[in-house]
Amino acid sequence: MPSTSESLLSVVPVVPVVVIDDLAHAVPVARALVAGGLPVIELTLRTPVALDAIAAIAAEVPEILVGAGTIVTPGQVKQAADAGAQFLVSPGSTPTLLAAMGDSGLPFLPGTATVSEALAVLEAGHTEMKFFPAEASGGAAYLKSIASPLPAARFCPTGGITAASAPAYLALPNVGCVGGSWLTPADALATGDWDRVRALAAEAAALG
Ligand code: 3PG
Repeated sequence: MPSTSESLLSVVPVVPVVVIDDLAHAVPVARALVAGGLPVIELTLRTPVALDAIAAIAAEVPEILVGAGTIVTPGQVKQAADAGAQFLVSPGSTPTLLAAMGDSGLPFLPGTATVSEALAVLEAGHTEMKFFPAEASGGAAYLKSIASPLPAARFCPTGGITAASAPAYLALPNVGCVGGSWLTPADALATGDWDRVRALAAEAAALG
C-alpha cells in the first residue's frame, strides 16, 4: 500500500474518482488502476454499493490506497472508516464535518471552493484540501490567483478536469495532485474494458 505519512497530495499525480454501480466492478477497476501505475482509488459514496466496494477493494487489493469520497455527513465518516477506507474526501466543509473527519484519525481532504472556505479549513489546522468543483469555480486561473495570499494551502482540484486540462493544474505551486473520473468512464466499466482503464491510468500516471 502506498504511504500517506508525508502527504495525501503527494502519492499520485491523479487520484481516480470512481462511481461504482455494480459491486462486481470494484476489484477489477482497482486492479486495472494499479496495473496502470495509479495505486490510489477514491470511491464516491453516491451509490448503494459504494461502502461494499470499499470493503471489497480493501480486502482483495491490498496494494491500493482506497478512500471514500462524497462524504457529506459525520455518519458517513464512521461508515467509510468501518468499511476500510484509508482516506476521506468531502465536496465541502462544515465545522461538524471537519471535526468528524479529524476525529477519524484518517488522512482527509475537506472540500473548499472559496478563499473564506480555505481560510476556515486552515484555521481548523488543515493545510491540504480539495478544490471543488474546480472547473466551474474558476479552474487553474483561480488557484493561481490564491497561491500568493494563501501560501499555506495545498489543493487537490477536482470536478470537470480532464487529461487535457490536468497539466495546467499540476504546474501550479499550490497543487499537489488532481482528481477526476475520466480514468474510469461509465461505458468502460459497463463493458468490463479494464484494458482501457489501465491505459487511461498509465497516461495519467505519466503526468507526475
Ligand atoms: C468529485 O467527486 O470529486 C467529482 O465529482 C469528480 O469530478 P469529475 O467527475 O468531473 O471528474
